[in-house]
Amino acid sequence: MTVHVDGKTTVRDLVGRYPQTRPTFEKHGIDYCCGGGKCLAEAADERGLKLPELVGAWEEALRTTAGKAEATDKDWYAVQLGALVNHIVAVHHGYMKTALPRLRVLVPTVLNAHAAHHGDVLRQGQALLNAFDAELSSHLMKEEQVLFPYIVALEAHLHEGAPKPLAPFGSARNPIRQIEHEHESAGQALAKLREVTHDYALPADACPTFTAMYEELQRMEANLHEHIHLENNILFPRVIELEEAVGGER
Ligand SMILES: [Fe+2]
Ligand SMILES: [Fe+2]
Repeated sequence: MTVHVDGKTTVRDLVGRYPQTRPTFEKHGIDYCCGGGKCLAEAADERGLKLPELVGAWEEALRTTAGKAEATDKDWYAVQLGALVNHIVAVHHGYMKTALPRLRVLVPTVLNAHAAHHGDVLRQGQALLNAFDAELSSHLMKEEQVLFPYIVALEAHLHEGAPKPLAPFGSARNPIRQIEHEHESAGQALAKLREVTHDYALPADACPTFTAMYEELQRMEANLHEHIHLENNILFPRVIELEEAVGGER
């Protein structure tokens, strides 16, 4: 498989079509979830990175994974939206609903044990995480109770002749705009957390609980990036297209 990648390719297209390129984005801190509409040249420039080296890394990822499982990750552009919604809820919302309660225990435990030497970093981290936790919990609920059921019903209307669902919010573009704004805020909170912890650099006296907490935070960050990418770059543009096909309100 030869895939042509150049500076004009959008971030959204590259990660959406070829998920095996995602680790390169994560490694270099390039925002591929909220900044999906940018072209690769612009994204590289913003991070002060050299485009040819990045293109080389992406092409290498595409070459070495050709025909392997990670290269044939589900084509989320082709599946029914209901299947994509189910995947997001099971894999990403499900993850958050176990990771956040774990962190609610881990963070105060680490703060109690290490307040003397690392109180500053840990208290700043705790405040950021608490705000993130509160916002994200209501965000997930909004998606699961309002937007996602509407998407599934709209698809059933178009493909199975089910009644057209009522949209109390007018067009889906309205809640999507708000949700994208919340994604931006969640992404910024985790970027700030990474900055405060100096890229999750463990101090020399870190105990296993401290280590577990930083590992969980980094897993959560990677999971959230993929989660937002699936919603912003694939699900939402497909919902807007679906609504146009149905002839929804504007
Ligand atoms: Fe979500
Ligand atoms: Fe979301």
